[in-house]
Amino acid sequence: MKAVYVAMIAAGVVMAGQAQADEALAKAKNCMSCHAIDKKLVGPAYKEVAAKYKGDAKAPAMLAAKVKAGGKGTWGQIPMPPNNVTEDEAKKLVAWVLSQK
Ligand code: HEC
Repeated sequence: MKAVYVAMIAAGVVMAGQAQADEALAKAKNCMSCHAIDKKLVGPAYKEVAAKYKGDAKAPAMLAAKVKAGGKGTWGQIPMPPNNVTEDEAKKLVAWVLSQK
């Protein structure tokens, strides 16, 4: 029994650590100057983005491409400019955005 608890706690720590790393990446890449997790700034709240694409299997790839290249018209008239991220970083960031609830 004890080992199970330890494993669960360890998994929780690893997951929390990953979420923090991704948030730090979002800050480092300037995403957080236009986005917040739970309120609209220039761009939509990440929680709203996660809710909108919940269960959409195509969303991660589509959103990663949009984060990289920029785009407009989904949330209003303000465009998102292209961001200085690699493909890998874009995918990581989108996975983190979509995990917000
Ligand atoms: C200069 C402001 C700005 C910056 C910087 C910015 N965004 Fe955005 N973002 C926006 C706006 C505005 C929209 C809404 C675009 C639209 O309506 O299609 C948006 C939309 C999004 C969406 C939803 C796209 C969709 O089609 O639903 C995601 C995901 C996103 N941003 C992630 C990021 C990430 C990750 C970064 C950092 C690498 C970032 N943004 C940096 C302004 C910004």
